[in-house]
Amino acid sequence: MMSSLKSSARPKPVLLDCDPGIDDAFAIFLALKSPEIDLVGVTTVAGNQTLPTVSNNAQDLLAFFGSPQVPVAFGEARPLRRDPVVATSHGLTGLGGRTLPRVAGEPASRDGVGFLLDTVFAHRPGELTIVAIGPLTNLARALERRPEVAQHVHEVVIMGGANNAGNMSPVAEFNFFADPDAAACVLNADWKIRLLDLTLTWQSAVPSSIAQRLARTADPIAQTFSAWLDFYSQGETTPGADGPSLHDPCAMAAVIDPSLISTVPAFVAVETQSPWTLGESVVDTAGYFGREPNVQLGTTLDREGFWRLLMGYIPGTE
Ligand code: RIB
Ligand code: CA
Repeated sequence: MMSSLKSSARPKPVLLDCDPGIDDAFAIFLALKSPEIDLVGVTTVAGNQTLPTVSNNAQDLLAFFGSPQVPVAFGEARPLRRDPVVATSHGLTGLGGRTLPRVAGEPASRDGVGFLLDTVFAHRPGELTIVAIGPLTNLARALERRPEVAQHVHEVVIMGGANNAGNMSPVAEFNFFADPDAAACVLNADWKIRLLDLTLTWQSAVPSSIAQRLARTADPIAQTFSAWLDFYSQGETTPGADGPSLHDPCAMAAVIDPSLISTVPAFVAVETQSPWTLGESVVDTAGYFGREPNVQLGTTLDREGFWRLLMGYIPGTE
């Protein structure tokens, strides 16, 4: 199915909250290359790796992709209540075995939550979109400081949650597992949310033809992406598919071209107590709990359209 990318008169201002992270890197690349997006800032959060590591990675990725001017603010170093966990599938550097040229430079702020709030309120009500692709600690702290932030943003597009199978436990996905209290807080706030959980993002599994195209493309970005996919494929499995899934760029693609992802209204709760189901997102589309929907839940990804969008910006892969 061809996705009809609609060119909007003005690019959409987006703040990206992330924990780079191999798939985060693809999301940052998409945000920078798409004319639909004005990436006004990046906040980092501990997740795939420690806060210093993911923060350095965010700075280095922006420079590597040619946009060192995008402000980066360092956010929360640990979850609201639980001990930090790190992912293993991104490696000790957080970017696989690849190291990028180190950009030495002070961040725009070491108070990422304050930066996030300032960025939201520097825009008109309903103007700024937040794309959140790591644990939701920064967003939860922002709600604690200024609950009215929820009414001021256009929407929050979140990669997180697991609807029937997890990647950190039988039922939990990493971002929600790493900080379930933050996930529960964010989903309980009164803002417009599009939630893309593993059921949606596992549909993005990398086709082998794409992996082969990247591997044979000499361009440095294509080669770096190819190396990241090789590394990611060692620790990130997709049920029923032979390649890893790129979870985070699905969230950015949803902003660039909403037609790529179908959604349904749902009430989603997050388990914050049980040691067996900690971080599980419980999806109710049938009104069992008698609760109004709190998200638009991603159901179907136009996989061909997603990969056409992403590959269209990677030099030399035509
Ligand atoms: O479960 C996938 C999510 O966890 C992605 O955001 C990935 O980067 C990791 O943070
Ligand atoms: Ca991430």
